[in-house]
Amino acid sequence: MLGVCYYPEHWPEHFWQRDAERMRALGISHVRIGEFAWSRLEPARDRFDFGWLDRAMEILHGAGLKIVLGTPTATPPKWLMDEHPEIAPVDEQGRPRGFGSRRHYTFSSEVWWKESARIVEIVARRYGTHPGLVGWQTDNEYGCHDTTLSWGPEDLKAFRRWLRLRYQAPEQLNEAWGSVFWSMEVASFDEVVLPNLTVTEPNPAARLDFWRFHSDQVAAYDRMQCDIIRAHSPERWITHNFMGFVNDFDHWKVGDNLDLAAWDSYPIGFVEKFPFSEEERTRWAETSHPDIAAFHHDLYRGVGKGRFWVMEQQPGPVNWAPWNPVPKPGMVRLWTFEALAHGAEVVSYFRWRQAPFAQEQMHAGLNLPGLDELSPGGREAERTGRELAALGAFPESGKAPVAILYDYETYWSTVIQPQGRDFRYEELAFRWYEAIRRLGQDVDFVRPGGSLKGYALVLVPCLMQVSEAARAALDEADGLVLFGARSGSRDRNFWIPETLPPGPLGETLGLRITQVSSLRPGLSERVEGAVEGSATRWREYAEAEGTVFARFADGAPALLGKDRRLYVAAWAEGALLESLMRHVAEKAGLTLTALPAPIRLRRRGDWVFAFNYGPESHGLPVEADRFLMGGPTLEPHSLAIWRES
Ligand code: GAL
Repeated sequence: MLGVCYYPEHWPEHFWQRDAERMRALGISHVRIGEFAWSRLEPARDRFDFGWLDRAMEILHGAGLKIVLGTPTATPPKWLMDEHPEIAPVDEQGRPRGFGSRRHYTFSSEVWWKESARIVEIVARRYGTHPGLVGWQTDNEYGCHDTTLSWGPEDLKAFRRWLRLRYQAPEQLNEAWGSVFWSMEVASFDEVVLPNLTVTEPNPAARLDFWRFHSDQVAAYDRMQCDIIRAHSPERWITHNFMGFVNDFDHWKVGDNLDLAAWDSYPIGFVEKFPFSEEERTRWAETSHPDIAAFHHDLYRGVGKGRFWVMEQQPGPVNWAPWNPVPKPGMVRLWTFEALAHGAEVVSYFRWRQAPFAQEQMHAGLNLPGLDELSPGGREAERTGRELAALGAFPESGKAPVAILYDYETYWSTVIQPQGRDFRYEELAFRWYEAIRRLGQDVDFVRPGGSLKGYALVLVPCLMQVSEAARAALDEADGLVLFGARSGSRDRNFWIPETLPPGPLGETLGLRITQVSSLRPGLSERVEGAVEGSATRWREYAEAEGTVFARFADGAPALLGKDRRLYVAAWAEGALLESLMRHVAEKAGLTLTALPAPIRLRRRGDWVFAFNYGPESHGLPVEADRFLMGGPTLEPHSLAIWRES
C-alpha cells in the first residue's frame, strides 16, 4: 500500500540498486518515475537516450518494485521551446511565461499537441509492455502554477474555434452573451477577443465560456495521451495526479479518461493556501487542519469512480509555502493511515531522497539530502510499513451516508462574479464538509448529474447553473437535500433565470429570490428558528411558498423549503453553520457523534479509524479488546483502529 516518487536521473547510477533494495526493505511496493525526464530521454530532436531508463527500470523491477511511469510532458525541453516558442503560455497581463521551471505550455498550441502525442507514443511504445510496469501517470498536476488558462494568440485562435462549434453563428453568440450590452456585438467569430486587458470588467458569459473552453482542452489533451497509452500498453491502468484546491478545470471530466484518480497531498503546505483565519493557521501549522487531506481524499475517490491513490505524500517540510514547518512527530504516519482509511489504494511519498540541488532542495524526502539515511519522515514511513504488514488487507470502503455535490463551473462563476469579495465557493464547500465531518459523518463527493440515490443527506453548497442532468439527479435523490445560497441563480449563458433564482429549482423548493445582499466584514444578520446564529458575507430575500424553518431578524425567510428539499438563503459559518448541519443531519435520520475539533472518524467496512490532529490525548468509548491498532486512549498526533461491534 506504500509507494515512492523516484528520480533515477538525479542520482549516480551506482545509487540505484541500493535505493531499490532499501525501498523494498521499507515496505514500499510501488515507484513512480520519469515524469520530468524529457531532456534526458530526448536531449535533441530525434536523438534519444533510453539506456538509462531501461537500466533504471530493470533494477527497480528486479528488486520487486511495481513501476508507474509518468509521461514527461510537464517539462518541454529547451530545444523544443526554441523551435516553437508559441508553445509557451501567456499570462492574463499578456506576458509570455518563459522556459526555466516547468509547465511552460499552453493547452491551445497545436504544435504542442503534436509534440506531446509524439513523445507519449515513443515512450508508450518502448515501455508499454515492460513486465515491471503496472500503470501510467499522464503529465504532472494539470493546472499547477496557474497553468490552465492562457491568454496568447494561440489561445485566441483555439477559443474562436471552440466558440464556432458551440454557437455556429455570431448572432447566436451575441444573443447568448448579451453582447448588445455596451455594444459588444461581433459580426464574425474572427472579431471575438480574449476577455483580458479590458478597460473594466469583461462580459461574464464570455469569461465563463473562456474558462469552459480551457477546461475542455485539459480534458481533451489528457484523453489524447490516454488513447495513445492504451493503444500501446494493454492491461496497464492510467491515472493523473491532481492537486489540492485547484479548481481551474473540471476534474470530473479528466477523471472520465482515467482508470483511477490520484492526488498530491501536502497537508501542511495547504494550510497556508486555504483562506483560514490567522488563528486557525497557527493552530494547525504543524499538523494541518484535520479536514484538508480528508476533503481531497473523498473528492478524488469520487473523481476516480471509487478508486484513488495519493501519488505524492508530504514526508516532512515542503519548500513552496510562505512558511514550511516540520510536521509534528507522528503526522506522516497519521496522514498515511488517514488516506488508506478514506480508500486510497496506495500512498506514495514525495520523494525518495531530498535533492541537494535545484528548486526543491529545501523539500524533505524519505532520506536526507544525498544520503542513504532515513529522515524523520522516512522513519515514520518505515514504521507505517511494518504496521501495515501486520494489519493485513483493509476491508472495502462502502457508500457514505452523506453526499456533497461538487461543481467546478460554480467555482468559475463565483470567481467571475463574486458580488461579495469573500463569497468563495471552495471555502464554502470545505466548511460544509468540515461541519458535517465534525458530526462524525463519512462523505462521498458526487458530480452534478451523478446519482444521488441511497444518500440519507445530500449537501449542495452552491450549484449556480443547474443542468438538466443535475436537476434530474437531484429530483431522484431519496434523502434530504440542502441547497446553499445562489443555487440556480444563473442559466448556462450566465443570465438570471426568467423565473428568478433558484431558476429550475424554484418549484421543488417553493421559493424565489428577489434580492441578494453581500455583507462586508463586520455586517451580520441574526437568524432564529429551527437553526440559530448569524449570517455573514451574504443574505438573500426570499419569497416562500413552502415552509419557513428559520427567519432573519426582519422576518424574511432564512431556511425554507418543501418536503425534503431545503434552501438556506445565507452564507452560514460558525454557530449558524453548526446549527444548520445538525438540523439537516438529524432530519435526515443520521446518527451523530459530535467530535472535538482535532478528532475525526472514518469507517472502512467494519473498521473504524479515529485520527487525532491535536496535542492532547482523547478517550475513546470503545472496549479495549476491539482495537486493531492503538487503544481507548487516543494519543496526540496519532490514530486508532477498531472493529465496529
Ligand atoms: C508537487 C509536484 C512535485 C513537487 C512537489 C513538491 O506539486 O507534483 O513535482 O514539485 O509538488 O511539494
